[in-house]
Amino acid sequence: MSTISHERPYGVGLAYRFSVHHESMKHKDEIDLLELSTEDYIVRERRIYSDPDEALLLDALANIPCVAHGLSLSIGTVEPLDEQYLKGTKEFLAKHDLSTFSEHLAYHRIDGNDLSMFLAMPFEEAAVQWVKQNYYATRREIGRPFALENVTYHFPVSNCSLGEADFLRRITEETDCTLLLDVTNVYNNSQNHGYDPIEFFDNLPMERVSQMHLAGGHQKPDGKWEDSHSEPVMEGVWPLFDEAVQRAENAEIVILERDSKLRPFDSVMTDIRKAREIFYKHKPETPGPKHDHQVTATPFEGIPEFEASEFSDLRGYQRSMMARITSDEFRKAFQEDPAKATAQFGLTDPEWIRRLTDSDGQSMWHFQDSWEYFQEDDKQVDEDYKKREWAMWAKQLD
Ligand SMILES: [Fe+2]
Ligand SMILES: [Fe+2]
Repeated sequence: MSTISHERPYGVGLAYRFSVHHESMKHKDEIDLLELSTEDYIVRERRIYSDPDEALLLDALANIPCVAHGLSLSIGTVEPLDEQYLKGTKEFLAKHDLSTFSEHLAYHRIDGNDLSMFLAMPFEEAAVQWVKQNYYATRREIGRPFALENVTYHFPVSNCSLGEADFLRRITEETDCTLLLDVTNVYNNSQNHGYDPIEFFDNLPMERVSQMHLAGGHQKPDGKWEDSHSEPVMEGVWPLFDEAVQRAENAEIVILERDSKLRPFDSVMTDIRKAREIFYKHKPETPGPKHDHQVTATPFEGIPEFEASEFSDLRGYQRSMMARITSDEFRKAFQEDPAKATAQFGLTDPEWIRRLTDSDGQSMWHFQDSWEYFQEDDKQVDEDYKKREWAMWAKQLD
């Protein structure tokens, strides 16, 4: 049982990784909070590899305030939500008394295919309305409001009627959610897609930002920035973070994300220390009274339930996009005659078809390559899992 409260974590912390558990605990005076990845616990294969009896998790929970972060919701997919995932998340949050949760504003799964990489939502009102529906369904299921994170996108959907900041604003207006502002994602998107990040902040409802992420990345040979989560935070991100902390008066949580190259751990702590210096330069040592968006989230009454059929264009767009990434046959048909190819997914609106034909071909290659890689990787993980499962059974029989 945990001995400290996870009711309202505050300050600067780290995305928790099993592999640096002991180092993290050793620095608990400087790590204000940990962000637990819910998938690590609700997907059995992962837990069984790294923390079979959850001893590390319980130790982390007993020592440092924790928040939870999900990865697999795919809130933007025009399909029913994954009930198993929601149930697992709800149980995990309840079991460990965690009150703060966040997920991503994106989609990555449709027609049974999961890309494991985020695709940008089209910045359109139809997408706002669909996300609103799924946000409320998720909130109802897990029993609490949660923050939505802005993602890095390899290519923006072209010809959309809203900009990204306006889209995020509309989402907060419709759902009453708060935002998890990933500052590295803003930096990367602004560099890769040529916009001014400060202007982006000007247009964003910064009072809605409740949490922030910082992560490291690198510039690829083609000049594009990637949030690989394997490097120290890039120099260009720090002034943006400073600006964001000043503007986001209600932000209480900052998490440094590092997934690999976690050693020497001092390089992680160097980023934590820099982030703390900036955070506490502008914020008090302890949080003030709760702000409106933490206290009064819109009640559920009066939230309309839509049918997926009302979003057939958005659904047709998403199915066609996924087919372009995962199917040679569809790619060929799409190249020959886009309208004929997308008609099989019920997509006939020329505006929506244009959003597909105008998407950056270079980025489509990136997704195709990654899809093939992940297919192979999944097979490998499956085999490893089976082997370990057998080994465990054999051990029990001994
Ligand atoms: Fe995230
Ligand atoms: Fe993030």
